[in-house]
Amino acid sequence: LVAEPPLLSARGQELASAPAPDRRRPGPPRAFRLGTPALDLFPLRSWSRIARQCVRSATPRRLDYSALAGLLSLREAIAEQVRSRGTRCTAEQVIVVAGAQRGLDLALHLLIDPGDAVAMEEPGYPGAQAALLAAGGRRLSVPVDADGLEVARLHEGQGVRVACVTPSHQFPLGVPLSLPRRQSLLAWARRSHAWVIEDDYDCDFRYQAQPLPCLHALDPDGRVIYLGSFSKTLFPALRLGYLIVPHQLVGGFLRARLASDLHPPALEQSMVARFLADGHYQRHLRRMQAAYSERLEALRQAMARSGAPLSLRPVHSGLHAVADLEGVAAERVSATAAERQLEVVPLSHYYRGDGPRQNALLLGFAAVGPRPLRAAVEKLAQAIAASR
Ligand SMILES: Cc1ncc(COP(=O)(O)O)c(C=O)c1O
Repeated sequence: LVAEPPLLSARGQELASAPAPDRRRPGPPRAFRLGTPALDLFPLRSWSRIARQCVRSATPRRLDYSALAGLLSLREAIAEQVRSRGTRCTAEQVIVVAGAQRGLDLALHLLIDPGDAVAMEEPGYPGAQAALLAAGGRRLSVPVDADGLEVARLHEGQGVRVACVTPSHQFPLGVPLSLPRRQSLLAWARRSHAWVIEDDYDCDFRYQAQPLPCLHALDPDGRVIYLGSFSKTLFPALRLGYLIVPHQLVGGFLRARLASDLHPPALEQSMVARFLADGHYQRHLRRMQAAYSERLEALRQAMARSGAPLSLRPVHSGLHAVADLEGVAAERVSATAAERQLEVVPLSHYYRGDGPRQNALLLGFAAVGPRPLRAAVEKLAQAIAASR
């Protein structure tokens, strides 16, 4: 009699036991939720009209398999859109993917072999860690300080094949990668023949801060794979993002898709293409910039009034703030807050190694309006007091 094998393969078990990237509670968006934009302000009426137009204009031909790279009209619109990040690419370099997560997964599967080292930010994005695990990569944690990734810790001899970074708004600390470090990172990639995956997930919303050129714009050598997402600028359930890949990688990336998703649903792609082409996207970004500035200000003022032992770090961009906490452990506050239906994640959740962890909370400020945000700050102050 042959012993029954385990339900999952060793790799399957490792993946299934990976820490959940997301700690959100079920239910509608609530204060401090991370990674959720202002869904209450999404122009659903325009979106529904575009949906009707796209469905009505469907022809039998459009029901067949579509382009592996994504719809040309969408890729052209994305190539135009990324000029606002100071970079240029052709539509041929754009590959539409089912969200940044799928882009990370695809890129890491294609660029590393199991056991290869990948430089990851510490603390960092659990989604990137999950994709690394799925591709069988070996993590090389690189600490992040006030100027972003400590690039000086990367050396040619480490055999690192890829560095995964969030330069415009480091996840979770929120700091931008300084210009000298951007240049050193690119110089390292050139010397080491390594790739850099630039996750530019939170670059669209800024608060009195001048954006630095993205790594892709500074890279003369074609070592950067740029990753964009519509999860923050439109909505996360859309599951659409894009990769911009160097010319020499395009063919390989496209052929590899034959083994997985082929391409994201064409109907949603055509809707986003039209949303961009008709000017709704730019209009929406402008409105959201104003709304997020207002929500961030409401958070700042409510925190100052609350007297809670929290100090907000400067917020340069993105949709969440980091608040240092004094006198009580952030994990404890997070648990007490959860009992009171508040979602606050401790910064420590995003560290993988055993090094020192800063005692801070991450506070998303985009998901709800100023009034519920103010009420939530009061509840948070009470949760902190109750956790002492
Ligand atoms: C660091 C980072 N990258 C990417 C994303 C977007 O991921 P996706 O496009 O898969 O929704 C997020 C969302 O919260 C994020 O925090």
